[in-house]
Amino acid sequence: MPGFEWLDDKESKALMEVMNRGILFRYDMPGGRGQYVEEFEKKFASYCGARFALAVNSGTAAVKVGLMGLGIGPGDEVIVPGFTFVATWEAVFDCGATPVFCEIDETLCLDPADLEKKITSKTRCIVAVHMLGAQARMDLIKSVAQRHGLPVLEDTAQAAGCTLEGKYVGTFGACGTFSFDAVKTLTTGEGGMVITDDEALYQTICEYSDHGHDHKPVGRGNEGRRFSGFNYRMMELQGALGLVQLEKLTPMVARMRAHKQALKEALSRVPGLTFRELPDAAGDSATFLSWFMPEAAQTQRLAAILADNGAGAVPWGVNTWHSYTNWEHLHAGSTPCKNGWPYKRPQGDLAYGPQDLPKTSALLARCLSWQIMLNWDEAELQKRTAAINHAVGAF
Ligand SMILES: Cc1ncc(COP(=O)(O)O)c(C=O)c1O
Repeated sequence: MPGFEWLDDKESKALMEVMNRGILFRYDMPGGRGQYVEEFEKKFASYCGARFALAVNSGTAAVKVGLMGLGIGPGDEVIVPGFTFVATWEAVFDCGATPVFCEIDETLCLDPADLEKKITSKTRCIVAVHMLGAQARMDLIKSVAQRHGLPVLEDTAQAAGCTLEGKYVGTFGACGTFSFDAVKTLTTGEGGMVITDDEALYQTICEYSDHGHDHKPVGRGNEGRRFSGFNYRMMELQGALGLVQLEKLTPMVARMRAHKQALKEALSRVPGLTFRELPDAAGDSATFLSWFMPEAAQTQRLAAILADNGAGAVPWGVNTWHSYTNWEHLHAGSTPCKNGWPYKRPQGDLAYGPQDLPKTSALLARCLSWQIMLNWDEAELQKRTAAINHAVGAF
């Protein structure tokens, strides 16, 4: 997953180029105009096969900006999966809208059958998250969305470089959002991107992410506004990093795929073990290798064996960052707002129970993952294979 493993002189040189140029701001500033963020946007759009790309300062901002571009606001419901990083639904709250949580299936992404059940007259958007580097079932999700006339935002924070039937994920919905934070495959330290083919949406998000400024060529400080916005701008140093990292994206994915394949073959010998379903295995960005054991107790036993042999896996059943079941602050309705927002609302309070997504809870209690690293060497792969061999004998 992490591009930080392959930071080298190219990134240092790119950062120094920005410093020597002395222009840190992407738009006009005294002394000149930024160029790196704009070039990163163009190259990222072209890499993904999208018409437009807007760089922002985080993957969380990208989801928020995408939702605002789609016109989401108070009173609207937005469907999000119960397995994602908290950022996805924080962004919904930040628009003043209501996140409605949906079950996942064996793809670890939105369950299209439950999705249909979660749609109400207030639903305004579906957020499909391509979790752990691989694809959500976009064909089924899009057909539900089309039946109900709803836009799909693809939260592709974890899946840069992943394709589905030859097309990059993030290009299937109304817009796709990416994260380039410190642990992502393509990293700019912090940063994000929104891609879209819709010119009007692109125009709106460009303006919204920069206080509403319309970016007419009248000089900074003289622009007009169609609406108010916020500051979600990416800076030039991040743009320069992004350009270098983008060059490495394809080789990084290739390296992770090779490591993943080696371990997948070994793991397939563990009795009872089944792998996460991949709608298109060939397009997987291979940032994670994820599998299920038949029961939660066996999953814990396998996790203990792997950990004892130096190959600990992520136990999603107890993970507090990504699993609906373990978002204690959501269930408690905790908020710094004195008036209880976003849980207490004039039209009725929101309440989220930890048992509301039983299928998701049960699947994640049986699920383990290894994050695939770029710099694993032969010794590391052998250590993991040896750990698997211990497990094979234990089941
Ligand atoms: C699915 C998902 N959405 C959004 C984000 C937020 O990205 P960022 O950390 O860049 O704000 C993340 C980050 O891990 C994520 O995994």
